[in-house]
Amino acid sequence: MKIFLDTANLESIKKFNDMGLLDGITTNPSLLSKEGGNPKNAMEEICKIIKGDVSLEVLSTEYSGMIEEGKRLRQYGKNVVVKVPMTPDGLKACKSLSSEGIPVNVTLVFSPNQALLAAKSGAKYVSPFIGRLDDIGQDGMHLIKEIKQIFSNYDFKTQILVASIRHPIHVIDAAKIGADVVTLPPAVLDKMLQHPLTDIGLENFLSDWEKLKAGNPDVKI
Ligand code: G3P
Repeated sequence: MKIFLDTANLESIKKFNDMGLLDGITTNPSLLSKEGGNPKNAMEEICKIIKGDVSLEVLSTEYSGMIEEGKRLRQYGKNVVVKVPMTPDGLKACKSLSSEGIPVNVTLVFSPNQALLAAKSGAKYVSPFIGRLDDIGQDGMHLIKEIKQIFSNYDFKTQILVASIRHPIHVIDAAKIGADVVTLPPAVLDKMLQHPLTDIGLENFLSDWEKLKAGNPDVKI
């Protein structure tokens, strides 16, 4: 399973990229707005740091604007995936851009039918938002199971990019289902790294070594 970071925060991107954890990045207008500053600089920098796919989202809601913006966004890097909303114009843009060899991520997907249609339009990625479904009392992970079954039945090449992830259990469940990608807020990736027994174990190793060193003051590893 690929791990993308769902952020425009350069510090987090560098931090997790240095650990070799990141296969790509997803951004959206809200995430760019959260960071403030000049979004162009942020998009350019992200595309330089990350070798894998970087999803950058169009703002236009009509077809020709999406195509124009999609092509402009591609100038930030060869690894740019154009993110379009799951609307009739979005799917039309997905079809056109994909036909030209420009990869597309169809975002704001909340039903298996929407995912099926995005795959038919040639999307490289489909982004179901599971946390937002959970938020309204629906089962977000059930949507991932349904999409996985549909894509497998017909051998669609479109990748399931699980988005709107809220906690590490979402990641385990998505991996068990066999989702292609999870895109994680930095806080979720931080939580995945941690375990209290790791901290206690490390503390014990270090204090035991200090005891040993007391009798061998000059010893070094
Ligand atoms: O890529 C955006 C998606 O992950 C949205 O997440 O937390 O705003 O529902 P959230």
